[in-house]
Amino acid sequence: MSEVARKNYLTRKSLEAIIAENDAEREGGGLKRALGWGSLMALGIGGIIGAGIFVLTGTAAAKFAGPGVTVSFLLSGLACAFVALCYAELAALIPVAGSTYTYTYVTLGEIFAWIIGWNLVLEYAAGAATVAVGWAGYFNRVLQGFGINLPPEFTTAYFAHASAHAPPETVHGVFNVPAAAIIFLLTMILVRGTTESSTFNNIIVAIKVTVVLLVIFFGAAHVDLANWTPLVPENKGEFGIFGWSGVVRGASVVFFAYIGFDAVSTAAQEAHTPQRDVPIGILGSLVICTVLYVAVAAVATGVVNYKELGVPDPIALAMDRTGQTWISWVVKFGALAGLTTAILVLLFGQTRVFYAMAQDGLLPPVFAKLHDRFRTPAVSQIMIGFFVALAAGLLPIDILDEMVSIGTLAAFCLVCMAVIHLRRAHPEMHRPFRAPGIPFMPILGIGSCLALMVALPLETWLRLLIWTGIGLAIYMFYGISHAKRG
Ligand code: ALA
Repeated sequence: MSEVARKNYLTRKSLEAIIAENDAEREGGGLKRALGWGSLMALGIGGIIGAGIFVLTGTAAAKFAGPGVTVSFLLSGLACAFVALCYAELAALIPVAGSTYTYTYVTLGEIFAWIIGWNLVLEYAAGAATVAVGWAGYFNRVLQGFGINLPPEFTTAYFAHASAHAPPETVHGVFNVPAAAIIFLLTMILVRGTTESSTFNNIIVAIKVTVVLLVIFFGAAHVDLANWTPLVPENKGEFGIFGWSGVVRGASVVFFAYIGFDAVSTAAQEAHTPQRDVPIGILGSLVICTVLYVAVAAVATGVVNYKELGVPDPIALAMDRTGQTWISWVVKFGALAGLTTAILVLLFGQTRVFYAMAQDGLLPPVFAKLHDRFRTPAVSQIMIGFFVALAAGLLPIDILDEMVSIGTLAAFCLVCMAVIHLRRAHPEMHRPFRAPGIPFMPILGIGSCLALMVALPLETWLRLLIWTGIGLAIYMFYGISHAKRG
């Protein structure tokens, strides 16, 4: 695809050329059109449900929103709905394998594509590190259940104290070994090449959804209404620490839980009828997850007082309190299985984005080099695995999560802008799926993403600024001179 993308600055012809080329490739035995809307929705749900709901619900409730985290999930889901509608329009219009990076390249041009690609590193690579830290939290609890206690300095991030919200009793960590180890293991698997078995994926998705439903149904019977009062605890005199500003801050933290609905768009080329199935897949998976998330958040804060939820495995803790210990075990194992595939998808996605960027000349060719035997971008995968494992070992989950959120939100703003731009520049194009309420809906999307970004701490903004600075420097010193523009 990027072969075509590089030729383009948007003209109607070029977009049509992409679509035609894509169709021809499929007719000629390229990627198989194997996925219907059901499988696409499963793919979306598989990518969405992960550390967000199993870990960050507790963090957001205990530190920022209290039981109001339920409202945080609603707010965040609403912001994602605006963006998802924009994604659906673009994915149906440009139904090619690729990502936001590709859409932006084709619609807004190279510099915007670079910025998006660079921010996608935060979504995928930092996202993988975040989920790995969540995975490690559940893993340690499982070990503890068997009476095995790893030394805390080797299960705690070196920079655990750098988090603005770290409680004083936080252990002085050296390296979060389990978090780095899972990245290492999955990187090895990806280097060998996974035969993507959709059956395997569907089984894991079924396990995840079953676990979530178990939590909702068993938990609901043990809700103590006193835990929900007040729904929004009083503000502690600082923006974002409880009160309604805390609910908004909570929304920006749990936004992480929704990341992944955009993954459906990457499978557009393998869909039976992408113009219809991809929008259904994106919007359907988002709606289902929003309903599940709101219910889980309500149950967790109803069963356990929010002040106790700031642990690495808050959902398992809530199930412990129901007195049904077996459910707590099911949750722990279900979470481990679910988080493993989420990491796998994110690590895989990162190499794919770098592959496209390297093919366009924006990154060195090594990122587009395939292993002779495995046919995977092995070197790129290992380099990415190394840095992700380092981040997972050194940084605590809230610093990582906030970086992922701010980077992804910035990328989402550009997606909304791309839709507005295309409607104005090329109103005549046939749009198989038309997002409603243009331009107000994407403007609402941009506004709500910006609001979630504003609710993030100042340090996160500074980190984003530094990250963007590094990105622009690479673009100026490498990208500009190596870009293979048409
Ligand atoms: N949404 C994914 C998760 O919560 C990234 O783990």
